[in-house]
Amino acid sequence: MTFSPELEARFEKFLTKYPPERKRSAMIPMLIYAQDEVGSMTDELIAEVAKRVGVTPLQVNEVLTYYSMLHRKPMGKYHVQVCTNISCLLVGGEELWRNACKKLGIGHKEVTADGQVSLEEVECMGACSWAPAVQVNYDFYHDVTPEQLDKLIDGLAAGKTPAEIHGVERVNP
Ligand code: FES
Repeated sequence: MTFSPELEARFEKFLTKYPPERKRSAMIPMLIYAQDEVGSMTDELIAEVAKRVGVTPLQVNEVLTYYSMLHRKPMGKYHVQVCTNISCLLVGGEELWRNACKKLGIGHKEVTADGQVSLEEVECMGACSWAPAVQVNYDFYHDVTPEQLDKLIDGLAAGKTPAEIHGVERVNP
């Protein structure tokens, strides 16, 4: 299996960070970036990464079952993650999650028919101080209100990029 030259360069960098007997330590970042390019964890992708880090496909599959950010089926162009863990739950995280499902007509790890937006109910994202928190792909949103999430979802569903949606500010990484 071949990847883009950019991803191949990234893999090379990851693999040289670790001693040869610890190549498997590069597995998770490689899987995440490969997923971004391929769209999901296909059998071919799993076998390829396994070969490159010196483990079996079964061992990669064991990792996939643990990390919820790795998906066996493609998610939407914009993957909206809503935290409903305790800090977010106490300040409206569950309401956000219910509203998002209702608005899009999809549930946990489901994708809209046009492939534009997917939803995932997630555990703590480490943003408890700014709860309730939402993440879209690699962008974070803090102190999200139901109105803001509505606006965000409407914009994404209409084909806007997160940067084009005003009134819902992304947190700079
Ligand atoms: S509980 Fe939601 S970010 Fe920590």
